Amino acid sequence: MSVIKILKSTLFRKIIMSLTGLFIAFFLIIHLAGNLQLLLPFDRAHMQYNWYSHLLSSNILIEIIAILLYISFLVHIFNSIFITYENYKSNGTGLKKDTRGKISSWFSRNMGILGVIILLFLIIHLRDYWYLYKFKELPLDEQGNKDIFLIVYESFKQGWFVIIYIISFIALGFHLAHGIWSAFRTLGVYNKWYIKASKYLGIGFAILLCLAFALIPTIIYFQNL
Ligand code: HEM
Repeated sequence: MSVIKILKSTLFRKIIMSLTGLFIAFFLIIHLAGNLQLLLPFDRAHMQYNWYSHLLSSNILIEIIAILLYISFLVHIFNSIFITYENYKSNGTGLKKDTRGKISSWFSRNMGILGVIILLFLIIHLRDYWYLYKFKELPLDEQGNKDIFLIVYESFKQGWFVIIYIISFIALGFHLAHGIWSAFRTLGVYNKWYIKASKYLGIGFAILLCLAFALIPTIIYFQNL
């Protein structure tokens, strides 16, 4: 098989989807831990969150990992568009159909639409926070760090903004629940019991992560009513 053929093969694309997806899931754990600091008592949260954000953007190793993360997001998104297109083309022939199991069929059928909701969320999210933090002048806090805390905190005082976030986290939850299970299968988990275990691992991880993410804007919103 030529290199081009391997790169274009469905299996190779699925492996890439799995690896980038698992890397993004790992990032989400770290990102959640960082953002849970928003729920500390106000003054402490204010200083600590800004200090933490500064730490992340001033460390060369973390910057390199961040670049890997951006690449993973891009590859994951473009690859998914390509796979969807290929599946659409082969529809009816049964050629690309995954026949290893019928579990999670609702999730799998809706991975695309869930992905689109998450992509829209990401565009809004990165514009509101990441772009502002990296490329704009921001007021500084008492320690001289960019005050991203107040921007995030103020945005979660708006009900409509919190609702958009919660809807996105629900979509993320469904996407992760299926994605993690699917990634393990693609990466070689074939044993019936391991497949079951990875299914429950995916669902458990998705519920915990997305509930914890959703608690952040919800608590800030209700604290400020
Ligand atoms: C309550 C939930 C969340 C809060 C408060 C939050 C907050 C932030 C903030 C303030 C930044 C910019 C500053 C920084 O890089 O430290 C950021 C960056 C980012 N966020 Fe979030 N985030 C949340 C959830 C999410 C979710 C669910 C995703 C993915 C689906 C996500 C993806 C990203 C990405 C990819 C970046 C850029 C990372 C980087 O440059 O290192 N965030 N987030």
